[in-house]
Amino acid sequence: MTERPTYLSAFIDAHCTAARALPKSSIKAFFEKCHQALKEDTGEVDGSDKKELPPVCEYLEAALSVASQTSAPIKNVGHTFEAIAQKLPWQPRLDYKDQTDDFYNGHANAVIIGEGGLESHRKVRVGASLIAPNVEYPNHRHPPEEGYLVISEGEWRQEANPWLARKSGETIHNPPNIWHAMKAGNKPLLAIWMLWMETDS
Ligand SMILES: [Fe+2]
Repeated sequence: MTERPTYLSAFIDAHCTAARALPKSSIKAFFEKCHQALKEDTGEVDGSDKKELPPVCEYLEAALSVASQTSAPIKNVGHTFEAIAQKLPWQPRLDYKDQTDDFYNGHANAVIIGEGGLESHRKVRVGASLIAPNVEYPNHRHPPEEGYLVISEGEWRQEANPWLARKSGETIHNPPNIWHAMKAGNKPLLAIWMLWMETDS
């Protein structure tokens, strides 16, 4: 097994500790399954330089300062994320091409672990989404089950249900293929997501 660099293991450990503090729930069980898979297996580490940071990354500092005002475990997720944020391959949604509009310039996603990230992994993909204030990330869906850990607050919606506000340290659990969207209010939205990529379990 390849050795995971400290900057990544510190981030995963922090996420694990934050998840352990959650009340018993389906999202807690989902995170536990992902953490177990990440613990059992380390992929190839990609140390190459990533692209330039897109404009929305100017909001990273403000988003992380929200985390620094919450619980110790979330503060630590924020600290360990800050240590890797500049290394990440931030990019707008790949299927979105209109480079002139507010959404294109007001959001970015980055894979941390998984294809295209800092480390490959067969079972789990971990990443981050950053959304500028007052920008909405439109409906999307995907086969993998997904769990978000909110670092800086925003609102989430599943299917045609009402928008739900989620603060730093709270979570959202998306079953496979559910339509979901998110939007930032007057603060930037930052969330860490985990996707379960294995289809045969
Ligand atoms: Fe998603």
